[in-house]
Amino acid sequence: ANAPRVIFSGIQPTGIPHLGNYLGALSNWVQLQNTAGPSDELLFSIVGWHALTLPQHPQQLSEARMDMLAVLLAIGIDPRRSIIFHQDDNPDHTELAWIFNCITPMGKLRRMTTWKSRLAASKNQGDDVDVDEAGLNVGLFAYPVLQAADILAYKATHVPVGDDQTQHLELCRVIADQFNRNFKAEQSLFPLPTQLNTPSKRILSLRDPTSKMSKSSPDSSSRILLTDSPSQISQKIRSAVTDSIPGINYDPVNRPGTANLLTILAACNNNEDVGETARRYGGKNHGALKKDLTEAVEEMLKGPRAEYEKLRMERAYLAQLAREGAEKARLKSEVTMREVRKRVGL
Ligand code: ADP
Ligand code: NA
Repeated sequence: ANAPRVIFSGIQPTGIPHLGNYLGALSNWVQLQNTAGPSDELLFSIVGWHALTLPQHPQQLSEARMDMLAVLLAIGIDPRRSIIFHQDDNPDHTELAWIFNCITPMGKLRRMTTWKSRLAASKNQGDDVDVDEAGLNVGLFAYPVLQAADILAYKATHVPVGDDQTQHLELCRVIADQFNRNFKAEQSLFPLPTQLNTPSKRILSLRDPTSKMSKSSPDSSSRILLTDSPSQISQKIRSAVTDSIPGINYDPVNRPGTANLLTILAACNNNEDVGETARRYGGKNHGALKKDLTEAVEEMLKGPRAEYEKLRMERAYLAQLAREGAEKARLKSEVTMREVRKRVGL
């Protein structure tokens, strides 16, 4: 039998997830949960403290926390099987992050590509790094340290995340290893967690298929949200940018828009091989593809959407689940934190 795993992943409460979030990340959580062994433990966290690294409207953030909890339940994360909780309900994360801050070299954080791209975006005053950094907050800089604390507070061994998180997970292992060396005892305290590479499908913007589907695009017709109505789904797919080449084939380089629609359709069809999907449309046109895609997306989303709409009204129930999730999470992280404090001398 395989060694028991502790699986941890997180998502920010920054809006209703789109199809990219769902097919690239969240549906994989459900899959992992439903195929996990009996001794595997799963934790899924809504990471509000991470969201605060960018400006948030307080009222919106507090609703978005509930939205995300309802979404996770609606897509099939089962609170009897997985611990679902708000990161910001468990202060062990921030305590551990602080201790990690004190053993993490600045230089390592400066090399994170996420930080470098923030810095590049703020660069408008010459080559002076100090000036460029001045407008960015410390939270954004230390984001990967908090992420390491999220994971290691539960001694997670497996972390399902996309490629964009590989560097952060490497840093998490560096921090775990540094702690283990600095505060040596008979046994290392932290495992070095493994990235569980999701068979991750990169979903592209419906309006600009050279970029990924993203919540930050100002064009809301570029993304399908999990809660979109049938008419919204239909309208967005109808206006999806493709090409004027007759017929359908899967060619992501020359026909990214068409390939993207095929990728989504294949995912809707129980993750069938996209080549298989493409072959069925060989003699057809974009109209036929879009029509079938609209039906397939609606078929995939209607159950979760109905469940979401029902759950979202039940604020007391959601609050109760959040409390229970946080309690379960805290019971686990407390065990880690007792050992952490002892080792560092607090
Ligand atoms: P966004 O890019 O819309 O801001 P996030 O960065 O919050 O989304 O990502 C949340 C999760 O969804 C991450 O695991 C990320 O890898 C995944 N994800 C985001 N956009 C896509 C996409 N277009 N295709 C596949 N996965 C995606
Ligand atoms: Na993003």
